[in-house]
Amino acid sequence: MDKSQLRYTIATSRAQLDDTEVQKHSQAICRQIISLKLNAKNILCYVAKGQEVNINHAIQFFLQPQNQQKNVLLPSIEGDQLVARQIWSFEDLETGPYHILQPKSTCALFSAEQIDLAFIPGIAFDKKGHRLGRGAGYYDRFLHFFHGKKIGIGYELQLLEKIPIESHDVPIDSLITEKTIYHFT
Ligand SMILES: Nc1ncnc2c1ncn2[C@@H]1O[C@H](COP(=O)(O)OP(=O)(O)OP(=O)(O)O)[C@@H](O)[C@H]1O
Ligand SMILES: [Mg+2]
Repeated sequence: MDKSQLRYTIATSRAQLDDTEVQKHSQAICRQIISLKLNAKNILCYVAKGQEVNINHAIQFFLQPQNQQKNVLLPSIEGDQLVARQIWSFEDLETGPYHILQPKSTCALFSAEQIDLAFIPGIAFDKKGHRLGRGAGYYDRFLHFFHGKKIGIGYELQLLEKIPIESHDVPIDSLITEKTIYHFT
């Protein structure tokens, strides 16, 4: 199967998850994120769209100053770039391109080099840590300059034996699903 066929197949099976399953799996994943003992200070998260794993609960946790003083960064699509901006609360968000919530342009910019850890969504992942995204290359271009820890976030149904990759695809270090955490490096 090529990349676009695979995106279609996995996106279709993910779309069949009902809201209760999305919530239950998202909760299980957030619990695992929160229980990680993270040294990271600057953390890139994401805001889910559609049936993607929703990590808002973990974001909410990191935003609380009593929880290890993390800086929460979220992706903002600006032109053909994904950039990271800091939020202090969900009120710092507005609807951006692709109808995804993103930080307002007044939020502080962080460069890829300043970020310690990134939670990365995807359409599919494989057992070697390869990742397939939505197909626009925003994450791949961003991750090219990012040297922190990369943790993929997805449902167990998104984890495949093998997915097609190209030379620009940036692999992840770990993957958290509702079942467990997989380490690839
Ligand atoms: N580092 C890069 N420099 C230039 N172009 C790139 C780079 N990374 C990816 N691209 C371009 O982005 C396009 C989409 O790549 P790909 O199909 O791997 O996207 P994806 O991994 O599904 O999406 P995303 O990275 O946003 O999650 C490709 O045509 C590729 O040429
Ligand atoms: Mg890619």
